Amino acid sequence: MDLSLLKPKIFKGEIKAPGDKSIAHRALLLNSLGSGKASIYNFPRSQDTIATLRVMETLGMGIVKESVDSKGVSSNLVIESRGIHSFIEPSSHLDAQNSGTLMRLLLGVLAGSSISAVVFGDSSLNKRPMGRVIKPLKLMGANIDGAENDEFPPISVRGGNLRGINYDMPVASAQLKSALLIAGLFAEGNTQIIEPYASRDHTENMLMDMGIHLDKDEAFKRVIVSPGIPDMIDIEIPSDFSSAAPWIVGGLIHHDSELVIKDVGVNHTRTGLLDVLEEMGANISIEKKKSNSSEPVADINVSSSQLKGIEIYGSIIPRLIDEIPLIAVAATQAEGTTVIRDAAELRVKESDRIKNTVIALNTLGARVEEQDDGMVIYGKGKLKGGTIRSHGDHRLAIAAAVSSLVSDDEIVIQDSEVTDVSYPNFWSDFLGIISTN
Ligand code: S3P
Repeated sequence: MDLSLLKPKIFKGEIKAPGDKSIAHRALLLNSLGSGKASIYNFPRSQDTIATLRVMETLGMGIVKESVDSKGVSSNLVIESRGIHSFIEPSSHLDAQNSGTLMRLLLGVLAGSSISAVVFGDSSLNKRPMGRVIKPLKLMGANIDGAENDEFPPISVRGGNLRGINYDMPVASAQLKSALLIAGLFAEGNTQIIEPYASRDHTENMLMDMGIHLDKDEAFKRVIVSPGIPDMIDIEIPSDFSSAAPWIVGGLIHHDSELVIKDVGVNHTRTGLLDVLEEMGANISIEKKKSNSSEPVADINVSSSQLKGIEIYGSIIPRLIDEIPLIAVAATQAEGTTVIRDAAELRVKESDRIKNTVIALNTLGARVEEQDDGMVIYGKGKLKGGTIRSHGDHRLAIAAAVSSLVSDDEIVIQDSEVTDVSYPNFWSDFLGIISTN
C-alpha cells in the first residue's frame, strides 16, 4: 500500500513502542529448551516474533493462555514446554519468514535437539548468508547442510552429538553468537566464542537469568558457555530500542518537537545511537527506571536540536547496526559531513541497506555517497518530496517516514505495510502523533 506523508507543524507527545523483538525471540526460543511453564509479558505481535511463536508451537511448545491488548500490538502469554529432548519432529519445513534472528538462533536449537528439520524463509531471507552459522555448527559436529555450498536456506539439520569448540567469529553478530551459545548448551565440554566487536548480549543475560553458567570477559569480547538445560523463567519485555529510535531521531530533527518515549530497553549493547546523537549535539535526556530483569529500562526525552556531522566507525557499529538508515536521515539535517564506515554488514540485512538508504535520500534531494562499507552524508540539505520504495525492508520504510518530518513536499512510501515485520501499528502511532499536532 502507498502511503503519503506531509511534514506536520509540530511533533509532540508521548509514545510507547512495542516490545523488544530480539528479546521476544529469545524469550520463546530459550524458554522452550527447558520444561515447565513461563509467562511472557508485553510480547510484541510483529510478523517476525509471531513467526517464532508458530515455529516453536510446531516443535511442541504450547500456549496455555494468551491475552492480546485492544490494538492487537502486544500480548501476555503463558507458554509450556516439555523441553528440547521432547521436541516433535515437524512434518513440513519450518518457515522463518523474514526473520534472520529466528533462522539463525533456530539452527543452534535444532543442532542441540534430537530431531531432524528443514528451515527456509521468504525471498529476502533465502538470500542472506547462513554459512557463518553452518560452518561453526559443523565444527561442533552438527549434521547441517545448506543450499549452494552451505551458504543459503533451505537448511536441513539433524540434531545431536555436539562437542564444544573455541571459535573466533569472523563478524560481530549476535545472531551467530547466540546460535553457538545455544548449541553449546547441548555439547560435550565448554564452548568458547570470541567476537571482533561486542554485539548485543540479550542471549547471555537471559541464559544467566535461567541459571546457566556463563563466563563473560567483556574486555576480550569472549564468552564461555557450560552445558546445561535453562530453567523456564517469566520475562517482562521492555520496549524495543530500535522501535523507539524513529521517535528519538524524528524528535530531534523536526523543528518544533518534544517527545517522551516510555519504558525503552536501554541495554548498552543496543544504544550506540544515543552516543552518536549526543556527539552530534542532540537534546536528549534519559531517566533510568526500576527494572525487574537484567535488561535496563528508561524513559527517553528528546526535543528539536541543531545537529552537527561526525564520523561513525569501529566498535560502536554493532551497537547501532539497525539504526543506520535513521542516522543517515539525521545526518542530512546536520551541519557538516557525516561519515559512516565499517558497516558492510548492512548489505546483508533484510535488504542492502547501504544502497537503498543512499538511493532513498538522494531521491529526496539529499547529497549522499555510497561507500563499500558505509556512506558519506553531506549535511544541512533541504529534503524535497518524492516516492520511496521500501524494498520489502521494514527499517527503510520507517526511516522514510522520519524523513517526511523535515521534507518540504509530500513523501510517498511504497509497500508501507512492511513495517509490521518489527513494529505492529507503526502507522497508527505515527499518524496519531502527526495528526493530533
Ligand atoms: C539481532 C542481531 C543483529 C540485528 C538484528 C537482530 C538479534 O543482527 O541486526 O536485527 O536479535 O540478535 P546480526 O547479529 O546479524 O548483526
